[in-house]
Amino acid sequence: MRLVLLGPPGAGKGTQARMLEKRLGVPQVASGDLLRTAVRGRTTLGVEAKRYMDKGALVPDDLVLKLIEERLSHPDAASGFILDGFPRTVAQAETLSAMLKARGPRHLDKVIAIMVPDDEIVKRISGRRTCKNCGAMYHLIYDPPRNHNLCNSCNGELYQRDDDAEDTVRMRLEVYAAATRPLLEYYGRTGLLSEIDGIGRPEEIQQRIVEALGPAGAVAKGKSA
Ligand code: AP5
Repeated sequence: MRLVLLGPPGAGKGTQARMLEKRLGVPQVASGDLLRTAVRGRTTLGVEAKRYMDKGALVPDDLVLKLIEERLSHPDAASGFILDGFPRTVAQAETLSAMLKARGPRHLDKVIAIMVPDDEIVKRISGRRTCKNCGAMYHLIYDPPRNHNLCNSCNGELYQRDDDAEDTVRMRLEVYAAATRPLLEYYGRTGLLSEIDGIGRPEEIQQRIVEALGPAGAVAKGKSA
């Protein structure tokens, strides 16, 4: 299954991708996570990317594409992947399509857009906390950790992302509207797109995604049971 998850910042793409990984048996490939790893590692690419991420702007395509192409070449992505945060522009979508054709030829199976209104996004992002150690995600109100500021799974310290400050979130929403929302029309024309209501418990949203995946989702669901 080669799946793309679209949606505004904080829509729940990462939350759903992590749940789908277990269900579908293919890895989540999150451009934001790949970039944050490069930033933490202080690589040349990471230092350059940070200048854009801190402002809530898009990182230039050549940097993002380098990371994505490298990650998709890993053996665990050979039979499929869940792309989260990539593509983010029509130009990235066209490059992805060419990249897949050159590898096989292959193509995307499905694009799911998680639709969440801006006021809910601000609530979700302002309460998000992430484990420094294992990357597990929490929300101070919707999904709080058992112990204050500590991860339930590994006891790692929880932190708030630098780009989750209110002004930066506003900028990210503007960038989404201008650069990423046009992908709804782009993928709408291919017949691959399903738009999912992103309001509800994560398990309810997961169920909507599985239904949109049709037989592929149902088979995969059986696998994980
Ligand atoms: P990236 O890391 O991709 O951030 P994003 O797209 O803004 O998305 P988020 O990670 O903020 O949110 P999400 O939709 O994954 O929601 P989550 O599941 O965490 O990108 C960061 C930056 O990197 C960009 O600004 C850009 O600079 C750069 N970048 C990345 N990709 C790029 C690309 N392709 N090209 C160029 N630049 C790129 O959920 C959010 C919170 O809500 C959590 O606390 C969660 O617990 C909670 N939550 C989830 N689901 C629910 C629910 N159903 N109900 C209540 N709460 C929920």
